[in-house]
Amino acid sequence: MADFDKLAAPVGTTLDRFIMMRQQDFLYATGELSQLLRDIALATKIVNREINRAGLINISGTYGAINVQGEEQQKMDVIANIRFIRALKNGGETCVIASEENDTIIDTEKYQGRYVVAIDPLDGSSNIDVNVSVGTIFSIYRRMSPINTPGTIEDFMQGGTQQVAAGYIIFGSSTMFVYTTGHGVNGFTYEHSLGEFFLSHPNMKIKDAGKIYSINEGLAMEMTEGVKAYLDYCKETDKETYRPYSCRYIGSLVADFHRNLLKGGIYIYPATKKLKTGKLRLLYEAFPLSFIIEQAGGKASDGINRMLEIKPTTLHQRTPLYIGSKTMVEKAEEMLRIHEAVKTSPQPLSKVERG
Ligand code: AHG
Ligand code: MN
Ligand code: MN
Repeated sequence: MADFDKLAAPVGTTLDRFIMMRQQDFLYATGELSQLLRDIALATKIVNREINRAGLINISGTYGAINVQGEEQQKMDVIANIRFIRALKNGGETCVIASEENDTIIDTEKYQGRYVVAIDPLDGSSNIDVNVSVGTIFSIYRRMSPINTPGTIEDFMQGGTQQVAAGYIIFGSSTMFVYTTGHGVNGFTYEHSLGEFFLSHPNMKIKDAGKIYSINEGLAMEMTEGVKAYLDYCKETDKETYRPYSCRYIGSLVADFHRNLLKGGIYIYPATKKLKTGKLRLLYEAFPLSFIIEQAGGKASDGINRMLEIKPTTLHQRTPLYIGSKTMVEKAEEMLRIHEAVKTSPQPLSKVERG
């Protein structure tokens, strides 16, 4: 294949063809990762159909169960979870799955599978009933456990830098499949009548600075001084930095993230008084989106540390999340440093020291 083709697949290339073309980016590629991505894309088409029918056939609404996070589980959560797990089991490349909807790891019994997948099968699920965008987020690692044995929880504790692929699907006004294998980010839009994803957003990049901040500001009183100071900063007027910013918050992480990726912006879910380590989950929300944002030229952290370098210790670990345009994330981190340092300083800083 010509180098040109490898670097720049034309808009309109199908997802299947694109995945095949990109397989050659990896030395000794066996095609298993490519097949795994295609399995996820297939499950996506099925879930997409279910989501589109949700209002019609009365499958939306609360299922009546509480999931492991202590949240109400929506019926579509269950359906999406079943569909993705089934596709990954049938595919045979995945030995073990971690899902938001399952307390413990899911043994696929495909012990020859060389990959492990962490997944949020339906993100923003409470938005289903009000016809607002929802999504799926996934993260893929090479297994650490020996081949031909069951996968283990340690397979998920490798850290975000070890991801071999990550992606999300947004079920919005269009359905899109966006993913990275560490060679840039590419977005594909679903053409319903053909049942195919087509490359529509090649080599996605996020602006260094944008005009949007996304946060559940209703919780402001629950947030730390640093976050509150950053929220004030967002509202100040300064032409050079496009302030005041616009506040946009859908309440589906995938949808907020996707908009900010396309337009430039920052998404924050900070630690709060009630949720001391934040709300979002490290393995199947923060890590995959952080891999994607870095590949798109943006930045992600927990307010202090680079997100991808955080060492996971539990399957459903939560983390604060600051993600989006590079300079915006840096500014938020700076505010946390200044204001939280002042707060914990034993001697109040003098005016001169504060500058
Ligand atoms: P999920 O539906 O997978 O549980 O995720 C919901 C998450 C995320 O999508 C969203 O950004 C966040 O919860 C919203 O939380 P608040 O309602 O606290 O703002
Ligand atoms: Mn979620
Ligand atoms: Mn979910």
